[in-house]
Amino acid sequence: MKLVAPSILSANFNQLGDDIEMINRSEADYIHCDVMDGVFVPNISFGFPVIQAINRISEKPLDVHLMIVNPEKYIQEFCKAGAAILTVHYEACIHLHRTIQQIKDMGVMASVCLNPHTSVALLDDIIDELDMVLLMSVNPGFGGQKFIENTCRKTEMLKEMILRRNSKALIEVDGGVNFEVGRKLYQAGADVLVAGSFVFGAENPTETIAALKRL
Ligand code: DX5
Ligand code: ZN
Repeated sequence: MKLVAPSILSANFNQLGDDIEMINRSEADYIHCDVMDGVFVPNISFGFPVIQAINRISEKPLDVHLMIVNPEKYIQEFCKAGAAILTVHYEACIHLHRTIQQIKDMGVMASVCLNPHTSVALLDDIIDELDMVLLMSVNPGFGGQKFIENTCRKTEMLKEMILRRNSKALIEVDGGVNFEVGRKLYQAGADVLVAGSFVFGAENPTETIAALKRL
């Protein structure tokens, strides 16, 4: 699959409504929303009121990426705020299996994110439960960083695990995506590309989204 999720972390927050409208009219498949708590990552972004506001006008499903400690405390609230996919970090969950069940019980797609240093092999005992795996291709916390090349190898290994186990999990990759990187990732087996600064920094964001789907 070749799906695209523009990350609104790089949108213009003075005119967020206009940027959501642009995504609505584009070929984007999801809207990627990055929630940061200043503890799990060295940055703070936005929370429930902003996600609720986006959800009121978005015609695309919300792909909510939680970069927070103790995500299990807020599962219900993020699902109610409008998440269609909810991603928690492997590194932030002590009882990952339980947290995944909590997300699924809300009728929301459950996804786990791995930091660049976290091995895909660690998903072996949870992959059957997952709707999506998000591979970080930068260290989480900021938009506009450089893609870490090792992610292509991780994507291939994860794809191999998913096929071998007959898992339904989609592979999403997040960080430093552009046309060159996107082409390599789709080839390696990625299904969903997150793109922030590449989309919102482009002269024509709508066309950039369409082009990312046709790599
Ligand atoms: C980084 C976030 C990303 C970010 C990607 O921690 O998880 O979703 O918005 O931004 P780019 O595409 O600019 O690397
Ligand atoms: Zn993200």
